[in-house]
Amino acid sequence: MITIKNKQFVRLIPKEKIQARTAEIAQDLNTAYADKNPIFLGVLNGCFMFLAEMFKHIEIPCQVSFTKVQSYESMQSSGKVLELIGIPEDVKGRHVVLVEDIIDTGLTMQSVMAKLKLQKPSSISVVTLLHKAAATKIPLQIDHVGFVIENNFVVGFGLDFDGYGRNYEDILVVSDQANS
Ligand code: XMP
Ligand code: MG
Repeated sequence: MITIKNKQFVRLIPKEKIQARTAEIAQDLNTAYADKNPIFLGVLNGCFMFLAEMFKHIEIPCQVSFTKVQSYESMQSSGKVLELIGIPEDVKGRHVVLVEDIIDTGLTMQSVMAKLKLQKPSSISVVTLLHKAAATKIPLQIDHVGFVIENNFVVGFGLDFDGYGRNYEDILVVSDQANS
């Protein structure tokens, strides 16, 4: 049991599995984007650990940039997506790889995607470490998924509970969703 703030969490995905799966995704991207000079666009805050882990294995010429949005309040989606740092203009005409920590309802991805398309990139693909597939109500094309997980609140490896818990190397799941 791991306590973060006032909640109990247990390990769901150990760091070894996260590292191995992230390396596999990076190899797929090395192949797919070998001659494309892609720009990786991370969605802050949650993406920072996943993107850093992935970047250790990216071996092709590429750049990285970030956008920052907020939609979650504590343990659930607020239903609104607030843009805190916009899409950088240098994505115009580029092959963009959008990098997310988790796709839940899909609202965040839908919103980021709509704003990104306004900047006229050449192509967009979506990479996410986690996907709560049963919770995603919006039709989205997701090109690379680390792990499909059940519809329970998770933290660790960049994901937070009220800003805490991002520093854990494992993905943790809340141990009693009913009391949360
Ligand atoms: P939506 O619902 O817009 O959610 O697809 C995406 C964003 O919400 C955050 N999120 C979570 N954060 N544990 C977290 O720590 C979760 O279980 C969780 N589910 C969604 C996350 O920031 C993601 O980018
Ligand atoms: Mg988050």
